[in-house]
Amino acid sequence: MLNSRLDRLTDYPFQRLAALLGGPAKPGDVVMSIGEPQHAPPPFVKEVLAEHAALWGKYPPVAGTPAFRAAVIGWLERRFALPAGIVDADRHVLPVAGTREALYMIAQVACDAEAAERPAVLLPNPFYQVYAGAAVMAGAEPVFVAGRAEDGFLPDFETVPEAVLRRTALAYLCTPANPQGSVAGLDRLTRAVALARRHGFLLAVDECYSEIFDGAAPAGALQACAALGAGVDNVVVFHSLSKRSSVPGLRSGFVAGDERVVSAFARLRAYGGAATPLPVLAAATRLWADETHVEANRALYRAKLDAAEAVLAGRFGFYRPPGGFFLWLDVGDGEAAAVKLATEAGIRVLPGAYLAREADDGINPGAPFIRVALVHDLETTAAALRRLAGTL
Ligand SMILES: Cc1ncc(COP(=O)(O)O)c(C=O)c1O
Repeated sequence: MLNSRLDRLTDYPFQRLAALLGGPAKPGDVVMSIGEPQHAPPPFVKEVLAEHAALWGKYPPVAGTPAFRAAVIGWLERRFALPAGIVDADRHVLPVAGTREALYMIAQVACDAEAAERPAVLLPNPFYQVYAGAAVMAGAEPVFVAGRAEDGFLPDFETVPEAVLRRTALAYLCTPANPQGSVAGLDRLTRAVALARRHGFLLAVDECYSEIFDGAAPAGALQACAALGAGVDNVVVFHSLSKRSSVPGLRSGFVAGDERVVSAFARLRAYGGAATPLPVLAAATRLWADETHVEANRALYRAKLDAAEAVLAGRFGFYRPPGGFFLWLDVGDGEAAAVKLATEAGIRVLPGAYLAREADDGINPGAPFIRVALVHDLETTAAALRRLAGTL
């Protein structure tokens, strides 16, 4: 009765954490394990949802509304300085119910489990767990590609053997990366796009932290396509409002890129995707058109990085992540540190091992680390970080 591929999914990191800590968070615990933004969303979200309440009574179209798609294209062109026309509202973009399900489903779009050779899916290590689950359930072989420390551990797909690249159907790249916060520069993105085109695979770039940055705005894969000057073939990017606009519960994002992929994805989503409700699309349309709240949001994260630096500089391998809102701290043994922090300080963090897989050398590259999400307000975060440092 059950699909045997399910046996190959490890428990999700938060289930593993609950097992490690003997249950869910207790009242009063500071939960820094999950990347769920606690900042207030812009007040207009509530208003737009209320204004469009009559539309809860309608099934939404898979492709969303023309206004939503136009807002997304406008945002992409402004944010990544794209030449007009490289992405088109009718051909290159689809709304998704949060990027998690889209990142999951894209493996079914890209991987042909009945191909003569088993498809390979390249992914970073450590990585957002959905990528591996998606590869396994699509009948593909997940191939973990560890990066070098001096590259912020970003995977370099050019190091993958030719024999694997030949059967690669899909490669996931996350920039800014969860958990390390590393950012892929335009040159690396351009090389990854060129490699995907040379070997005929789909490059799926998870850019859902692109708007949470410390210094310069991270480059995007569509920008790399523009630099190469030949359309957006072999590339899709994933963007979300969850982190950018602090609305993880709205479940709203989009996929943009290769027209063939977007069209196939729309076909698959007509069968198994959750179309975004029309009131949500109306709120999302407003959010993508507004940068004021995004700048204010970024400033809140920067203030927390300042606080983190003041407490942690010179300890646990602390560095200011250029993107995202996680600290990735080298504490020697991430699981032991997570237990100690939960029991002695009421702080829940995620052991880095739960975000990575043992490599061929038998080493789990996440094992020495904890991931700490700076999602609470400044005061709560600063106090928790002081307790964390004192406890460890
Ligand atoms: C790297 C990464 N990608 C995608 C997601 C999914 O976000 P959402 O489904 O809220 O868009 C997350 C959420 O934490 C994430 O960390």
